[in-house]
Amino acid sequence: MKIAIMGAMPEEIAPILQQLKDYTTTSYADNSYYEASYHGVDLVVAYSKIGKVFSALTAATMIEHFGATKLLFSGVAGAINSSLKIGDLIVATKLAQHDLDITTFGHPYGYVPEGSVYIEADQALVELSKRVAAGIGVNIKEGTIATGDQFIANETKKKWIQDVFAADALEMEGGSVAVVCKALNIPFFILRSISDAADMDAGFNFDEFLQSSAHVSAEFIMKMVDKLGN
Ligand code: ADE
Repeated sequence: MKIAIMGAMPEEIAPILQQLKDYTTTSYADNSYYEASYHGVDLVVAYSKIGKVFSALTAATMIEHFGATKLLFSGVAGAINSSLKIGDLIVATKLAQHDLDITTFGHPYGYVPEGSVYIEADQALVELSKRVAAGIGVNIKEGTIATGDQFIANETKKKWIQDVFAADALEMEGGSVAVVCKALNIPFFILRSISDAADMDAGFNFDEFLQSSAHVSAEFIMKMVDKLGN
């Protein structure tokens, strides 16, 4: 078994690389991939760069080139659900692309022919995350994550995403990683820790909390890796 762990930004995988200590670095397709064995599990780790295109490329590369058989995403998100506070963890049960729009042709937002509005994350990994959370006394919330190539810092846009997709959080990579993993039949899991509330303070809060929230998410992901190795 080889597990892919990806983030979008350097800050999102830095705590993971720090924990691995020893890893090899390979340059491929204009990106760096870090490989290591951790507690008996083979890992490939990378950050994709921000957005749906780069994250799809990285996910596909980790699977097709590096041979990953499961994919875990670790990173930060903007909260939509008001119960989510900065530093809280949200596990995606399903994901959608909020910026995908061919409604002109009578389709719902987030839909293209032969696709689906929502893609579900792997249930076994979601269940594992619940057992891990219970074991270490950490609260996680399950919910819907909406993805788009936009940093949302606007109450009106946030409310629109909430209304149209019933989303609890939003970010810029999960939905595209889900498309790739579903197409390639690879179980995937998307974890995010809240960095901001996608409101007018989002830019400031993101800068302030990116590192600490990314750390919360990465730490939890490594607890899951420990369990996947057993
Ligand atoms: N990731 C973290 N916060 C975000 C926001 N407000 N919009 C998009 N992606 C994010």
